[in-house]
Amino acid sequence: MTKKICVLPGDGIGPEITAEAVRVLAALGLGFEMETALLGGAAVDATGNPFPEATQKLASEADAVLLGAVGGPKWDMLPREQRPEKGLLGIRKHLNLFANLRPALLYPELADASTLKPEVVSGLDILIVRELTGDIYFGQPRGIETRNGERFGFNTMHYTESEIRRIGRVAFAAAQGRGKKLCSVDKMNVLETTQLWRDVMEELAPEYPEVTLSHMLVDNAAMQLVRAPRQFDVLVTGNMFGDILSDEAAMLTGSIGMLPSASLDENGKGLYEPSHGSAPDIAGQGVANPLATILSAAMLLRHTFHEEEAARRVEMAVKKALAEGLRTADIHAPGTTKVGTKEMGEAVLRGL
Ligand code: IPM
Ligand code: MG
Repeated sequence: MTKKICVLPGDGIGPEITAEAVRVLAALGLGFEMETALLGGAAVDATGNPFPEATQKLASEADAVLLGAVGGPKWDMLPREQRPEKGLLGIRKHLNLFANLRPALLYPELADASTLKPEVVSGLDILIVRELTGDIYFGQPRGIETRNGERFGFNTMHYTESEIRRIGRVAFAAAQGRGKKLCSVDKMNVLETTQLWRDVMEELAPEYPEVTLSHMLVDNAAMQLVRAPRQFDVLVTGNMFGDILSDEAAMLTGSIGMLPSASLDENGKGLYEPSHGSAPDIAGQGVANPLATILSAAMLLRHTFHEEEAARRVEMAVKKALAEGLRTADIHAPGTTKVGTKEMGEAVLRGL
């Protein structure tokens, strides 16, 4: 059986950080076949399409996709259809990657990086489960039109109960394997779509008797995440609320350069990418933090290939590099050693 990984370096720092993750995956000696393709701005420049046919084919055939990051100011002026973000949304939809797992884990070595007080965030370990292929992101109709002599912008929020149920099951199962607490986030006091969301989550709860389900309105959830984030174990929410809350949760750790993510379909296929963006301001300088991408590769090992031991080896190697005092610029603090992208990658390789 071949184990095929489609590598999509993307834009900005994407190529530098994926190179390090690819080295780590290769060093494990698990016989991965890795092939690279274009996505995002790089693909627009080469083909005019942020998610070209060749990439669609390669990504469809592969067992997993490893992505760097897409986007940059260079492409912001293009029509919506040609923007790099469209490539990312396109591949999520194309591969039916409805379940987005975004862990926010505070590494003890990096406790000072958070803007919150250490006593509020120390030991933080939460998982946001974000629905990724529905909601207002994909709802029709949408657009900007002229109506009654003025411009009119509109989008549509909707969820079917089966869409809610399948993401709910992923979240309940994740909670069952962790701290057994699931908080579902909605805006049921205003939005019918999210009333249905809450109802379906309640209907699922009896299937997971070990898990305690609670509900929170999204505005309160945003507040609670900065007030007392450790009250949470797993959070589950829709595409748009999940986009916002996962950035907030990531920043609680102070080091978005450390956070991986997985986007999964129903059969274990997944796209794995760091939670941070393409950081065009530091692209090509060899200073970006490759650890979120390397940790995304660990998630790939775990979720797609069920190589739990190899996943742990990678995560331990990352911890070792931090324990040695090595830091890229984004997490550098007095008393630690500042290293570049490649040196950090090499430290992880040594730690394996
Ligand atoms: C994310 C990003 C994307 C999203 C953008 C780049 C389309 O913010 O992955 O969170 O909104 O989903
Ligand atoms: Mg986002």
